[in-house]
Amino acid sequence: MTLADVDGIMDIERASFPSAWPARAYRYELLHNAMAHYYVVRAREQEPREAKRKKYVAWLRRSDPQESASRLAGYGGFWLMGDEAHISTIAIHPSYRRRGFARKLMLHMLDEAIRLGAHLVTLEVRVSNVAAQQLYAEMDFVVVGKRKRYYQDNREDALIMTVKGVERPGYAEKLAQWKKEGKRLTQCVWRGWQRLQDMVALWRVLHPQTCE
Ligand SMILES: CC(C)(COP(=O)(O)OP(=O)(O)OC[C@H]1O[C@@H](n2cnc3c(N)ncnc32)[C@H](O)[C@@H]1OP(=O)(O)O)[C@@H](O)C(=O)NCCC(=O)NCCS
Repeated sequence: MTLADVDGIMDIERASFPSAWPARAYRYELLHNAMAHYYVVRAREQEPREAKRKKYVAWLRRSDPQESASRLAGYGGFWLMGDEAHISTIAIHPSYRRRGFARKLMLHMLDEAIRLGAHLVTLEVRVSNVAAQQLYAEMDFVVVGKRKRYYQDNREDALIMTVKGVERPGYAEKLAQWKKEGKRLTQCVWRGWQRLQDMVALWRVLHPQTCE
């Protein structure tokens, strides 16, 4: 994450949390908090049909295809305090949810936390946030406690979830396995749909008269 990402982050933040952090909090984290480590995940932008046609024409003429743009899909971060990494936030833009972005980001943050010397990873999550709890449980986080009326907006309790011993080789093996499994069905279906659209666009370039 860089300062240039902050505006995009604020859109996702407001759409994701009842009490959004202000932009200045992210700027502070990036500029002044030495314990803070923040990351973004980007999605390849769906190309408009016309751009797709031009790309295929370029391909057919053996000229250089243009790079496709990417859009900020989500972000997350942690504070590293000694051998403990505390995940401070994670959010995915509503239009990119259920496509594996949070899983990818969490696995990357766990990798980074381990690389930086963490043995324990911890976080708080609303008791009502079953989606996030399920995501964390997949990565061996377990509930170790509760903070009563932790959230100021509705006085909701927070569950404390942790995973210990992340530096052990056994956990590294699990991380590698989860990354492989990340190419799961929904992503395959999504890619399949994109390929189908690509083929339709190619067909339209090759047979424009049959498409009118
Ligand atoms: C929680 C959140 C980060 C998940 O992001 P996501 O990109 O949609 O999650 P993924 O697609 O990577 O899903 C990974 C797993 O999380 C769980 N999960 C995610 N969304 C879920 C939902 N709506 N219901 C149940 N489980 C869900 C599932 O186990 C899922 O695996 P599956 O798709 O194979 O079933 C996203 O919903 C979000 O930004 N929510 C608002 C912010 C927030 O609550 N952050 C957490 C603060 S503690």
